[in-house]
Amino acid sequence: MNNWDRDHIEALGRAVSRLIADHWAKLDEMNVFPGVTPQEVERALQAPIPERGSDAHEVLREFQEKILPYCMTIPSPNYYGLLNPTPTLISIFADALASALNQNVGAWGHSPSATTVEKQVVRWLCDVIGYDENALGTFTSGGTMANVTGLKLALHACLPHVAEQGLTSVGRPVTIYVSEEGHFSIDRAADVLGLGRANVRKIPADDRFKIDVRRLVEQIERDQREGRIPCAVIGVAGTTSTGAIDPLNELADIAERFGLWFHVDAAYGGAAVLSESVRPRLVGISRADSITVDPHKWFFVPFAAGLILVKEGKRLRQTFDIHPAYIPQRSSLTGEETLNFFQHGVLGSRRFVGLKLWMSLKHLGTEWYANVIDRQIELCRYLARRVEDHPDFEACAPVELGIFCFRYFPQTLRRQYAEADAARRHQIDQLLNETNLRLQILVEQSGKAWFSTTLLKGVRALRINILSYLTRREHIDRLFALIEEKAPLALSQVER
Ligand SMILES: Cc1ncc(COP(=O)(O)O)c(C=O)c1O
Repeated sequence: MNNWDRDHIEALGRAVSRLIADHWAKLDEMNVFPGVTPQEVERALQAPIPERGSDAHEVLREFQEKILPYCMTIPSPNYYGLLNPTPTLISIFADALASALNQNVGAWGHSPSATTVEKQVVRWLCDVIGYDENALGTFTSGGTMANVTGLKLALHACLPHVAEQGLTSVGRPVTIYVSEEGHFSIDRAADVLGLGRANVRKIPADDRFKIDVRRLVEQIERDQREGRIPCAVIGVAGTTSTGAIDPLNELADIAERFGLWFHVDAAYGGAAVLSESVRPRLVGISRADSITVDPHKWFFVPFAAGLILVKEGKRLRQTFDIHPAYIPQRSSLTGEETLNFFQHGVLGSRRFVGLKLWMSLKHLGTEWYANVIDRQIELCRYLARRVEDHPDFEACAPVELGIFCFRYFPQTLRRQYAEADAARRHQIDQLLNETNLRLQILVEQSGKAWFSTTLLKGVRALRINILSYLTRREHIDRLFALIEEKAPLALSQVER
């Protein structure tokens, strides 16, 4: 049954390639959300554990019948969702190659070329970020784990004895700072590291959804007076809701002034250093002690690929060093110490994540990335202009990267709002929030496009994120026409 002769491998590979090619040929016409209930998927897939195997082509057929139809079509040009990209074609096949070689990039001895490729990709990204030769980094499963790693580095820099003694030995709360627009992974990191979510100070954002630096400084000073231990300041380069970029240079100054670790969460926006037009707004990023970048966002590779870059690379080893007796840590040929990523991060065994990014960069070059990123930002601006010109819609945030947030606010309600007292205004606010939520559901159920909503200072906004390199202006026109068509229906359903 488990046939590994050459012809079989080729036939299986061709069948999988055909499946992928067929799928990609239909991306534009396919429903984005498959319109299925959890029960229906459960029913389709329910089966006992197979005691006897079946032919691999039979298994592929089952995949085609029971799994493929119930997928979210994330690579679609009509998917405007949660920072999930259309992966580059070469990166899809890179993942298959990485699986075939099954290198364990935890240790050099189990991945000589793979470890070196990852080191090279890390070097490339350090160079474009503006880090010098002392920098190093390591791939992770995603931005969440990269942020956990960054905050562990911060904690170790601030209180090195915690690694052995635990946080109870500190006796005072260790505090970290991020804007209220920070990603949930910062709370997760504080929880996992034992700092406690309550010790993440959520600093208010301004009307452009960037951290208010004055309030940040006040909070740090207050915490110092109260005997807390301020540990790290986090700047966000591309917030999840609106794509806002915090003033990184100012944050670097503040971190320096108070002697705090400066971490930049550039999970989304990091790739935009490749764009000439965005780079000036990321100034200060190279002053960060550590930076999260997610290749599985704007570098267009499939999940899972996160990355942490560290200005003083040796801090990774200082923080995560460990010497199990059963893993060789030196070259058997020269006796020299090798680069073992398990000693530079949270993860032990791990896959050859860097190959898909290495191949994508080799194949497409930074020029392609810069052009696509610029085009996607321009498409967002185009949508923003359409919204601006329409009397029934309004922008909820400026376009900074490839995200645009707006909402349906029909003229009739606007007129009422202008003349209403506080109680009636509150009612209209609620009605608008529910209507825009409903509007998202109607679009989802149409299958023709998908986007999320978000809350911006209490306002429910439609959140459009362009992260498919297949999306063009005609897709945006179709999207806006769809939203225009569904909006009055959403309002009438909510009013009913
Ligand atoms: C700003 C930011 N940081 C971190 C993350 C977490 O990344 P991941 O989902 O890869 O763990 C995200 C995810 O959207 C994000 O937008």
